[in-house]
Amino acid sequence: MKKVNVNGIELAYTRHGKGNPLVLLHGFPLDHQIWDEIVPLLENRFDLILPDLRGFGDSTTVDTPYTMDDFASDIAGLLDQLGIQKTAIAGHSMGGYVALAFARLSPDRVTGLGLVASQTLADPPDRKEGRYKSAAEVAEKGINGVVDTMTSKFTSDPILQKFARGNMEKQQPSAYIGALKAMAERQDTTPLLASMNYPVVVIHGDADVLIPVERGREVKSAVPHAHLVELKGVGHLPMLEAKEETARALSMLG
Ligand code: MLT
Repeated sequence: MKKVNVNGIELAYTRHGKGNPLVLLHGFPLDHQIWDEIVPLLENRFDLILPDLRGFGDSTTVDTPYTMDDFASDIAGLLDQLGIQKTAIAGHSMGGYVALAFARLSPDRVTGLGLVASQTLADPPDRKEGRYKSAAEVAEKGINGVVDTMTSKFTSDPILQKFARGNMEKQQPSAYIGALKAMAERQDTTPLLASMNYPVVVIHGDADVLIPVERGREVKSAVPHAHLVELKGVGHLPMLEAKEETARALSMLG
């Protein structure tokens, strides 16, 4: 993978295709490879940029606490170094939280926003507490407990579960801990929706048990021009469970 130095870390990324830029941000606790199946379907239309968020994949692990804004600032720094001023940006789940933070911090850089199995809400207190418990468990016992829990929640498809598990098992404990805390502390970005004057695409499976489809519908209600694609029988991994539909929807960001 290529790497750039931003915010004191090495951020790894891959780049494919030609066209308007589209940044694709992976979710928790994964890396850019979650998008691999989508790349061939979009690279004829976009300059695709697929980073590994700090801590994940080939990017530097960071032991001090960080926030969604830090993840977003890393992406801004990457784009600066690539000479890209404006871009469409889409994120899967936690990647959507980062895309929303990027849109809040750098609204003039955004040409379109995609939320794939994501949401604008912050964590309610019980979820927040659960994140800190999971982070403590990872610090004490390692990642296996979280990997087991997430695997069955991602999707009911055994082949895709195997792929997701393999990807999760590659990630460092410090990435789990850092991202769990960053997610717990993230702010509600719902107020941002009213100011979105660029194309917005919302892609959500109606069988998603991690982030229910209602969260996607709420974004559509708040952003009347948003394009909502609800995928029947699809869980938390639309880019793998329904790759053509997901690619078609994301292509509207071009
Ligand atoms: C993800 O898939 O990125 C996470 O499940 C998101 C979350 O836990 O809120």
